[in-house]
Amino acid sequence: MTLDPTLDPTLDSFDLRDPDLYLDGPPHEIFAHLRRKDPVHWSPESDGPGFWSVTRHRDLVAVSRDPATYSSARERGGHRLFDEVETSGRDAAASMISMDPPEHTRYRRMVQDAFGPARLEGLTGPIRSRTVELLDRLVGRRECELVGDVAAELPLQVLAELFGIPEDERRPLFEWSDAVIAEDDPDMRPSREHAMRCEAEMAAYALELWQRRLERPGNDLVSLLVHHRVDGRRISIERYLSAFALLLVAGNETTRNAIAAGVEALCRHPDQLALLVSRPEISRDAAEEILRWVSPVLHMRRTATRDAEIGGKRIRSGDKLALWYVSANRDEEVFERADEFLLERRAQSHLAFGIGPHFCLGARLASLELRIFLEEFLRRFPRPELAGPVRRVRSNFIHGIKELPLRLCG
Ligand code: HEM
Repeated sequence: MTLDPTLDPTLDSFDLRDPDLYLDGPPHEIFAHLRRKDPVHWSPESDGPGFWSVTRHRDLVAVSRDPATYSSARERGGHRLFDEVETSGRDAAASMISMDPPEHTRYRRMVQDAFGPARLEGLTGPIRSRTVELLDRLVGRRECELVGDVAAELPLQVLAELFGIPEDERRPLFEWSDAVIAEDDPDMRPSREHAMRCEAEMAAYALELWQRRLERPGNDLVSLLVHHRVDGRRISIERYLSAFALLLVAGNETTRNAIAAGVEALCRHPDQLALLVSRPEISRDAAEEILRWVSPVLHMRRTATRDAEIGGKRIRSGDKLALWYVSANRDEEVFERADEFLLERRAQSHLAFGIGPHFCLGARLASLELRIFLEEFLRRFPRPELAGPVRRVRSNFIHGIKELPLRLCG
């Protein structure tokens, strides 16, 4: 996409909410233009009150660290640009991502042990063996479609492991999580009825698991939720169901896309691919750079609880803000040669996982999965090449890849 350098972003010549804008990848030139010319930018909406786009790293950090002024709470609209209450149209309880402290802190504590270093240590072996198993199926083949063959399956299998879901019950999880997240893509959510059916099936299955774990607790995430006490009481079924759905969706699509878009980036940067193949010991840094480069979650929303100021703009109580991680991750003020994909850069300050009280609970797990995947994939296929067009998810919320055809060139 080429932008007219004289373009004035306040003219609103582009609609950042339009999912079609993301079909060829995120519109980085528009974001670069906004960072330079109007870093906290007001966009009117044809079907809503409008919203502020926060595009610079430092403003995004300031907003994310101030939940008292910039709320995630569902009563104020939640974490998506559309209002959660209106669109979901159901009587579900909020999950932690749509809560503010102190309530948020209580619910986050409930599951955070499951994502701590000790627990992850124990998951490293199972993640590696699952990765090896999936990749070994490709050995001997000349081509593959990475999303369907590996990237979609791996994170889901890891979550199923974490949830303690038996192997033969895992298949429907794919369809359910696709339908819940990608509301603008007809391939993934053919209709509203389809999405509602998926939500209902997922809830019924989650309830079945609740019952099983109530009777026979195990060492898994569902048992942790079922037996956890908040203020001395077991959490309600509604809270349990929303935590279940959040973890499933948040941990699945995001990691899938980090893997697929990461391999795409490596194919498009053969020098970096060769570097990683020759020095697998940099895979930890490489994973962080991939996360910066890809930004699997494009934005999250906040809503102002009072009048405030950010980046020189006056924000009014009730205003919506979109925190564009995808833009902050290319901010030239923070990252030298921000537009270059450099696996050795040590991109720790990237915001792909957000920052502040809602910092991604699964960040360590996702980075671990991505690192193990890179090591095992490149050990088997050191010279992958794109073998056809990359098909992306039609969404302004996730940077998703539906199909990534590859020549494996063993
Ligand atoms: C590459 C993969 C991932 C990316 C890019 C990602 C991104 C994010 C982002 C940006 C947030 C911040 C939300 C906000 O500030 O409003 C978040 C929160 C969250 N993520 Fe992730 N995520 C990933 C993987 C995972 C995994 C594997 C899990 C767990 C299974 C997970 C669970 C969560 C949860 C529960 C929250 C809400 C935390 C809270 O509200 O305190 N994520 N994620």
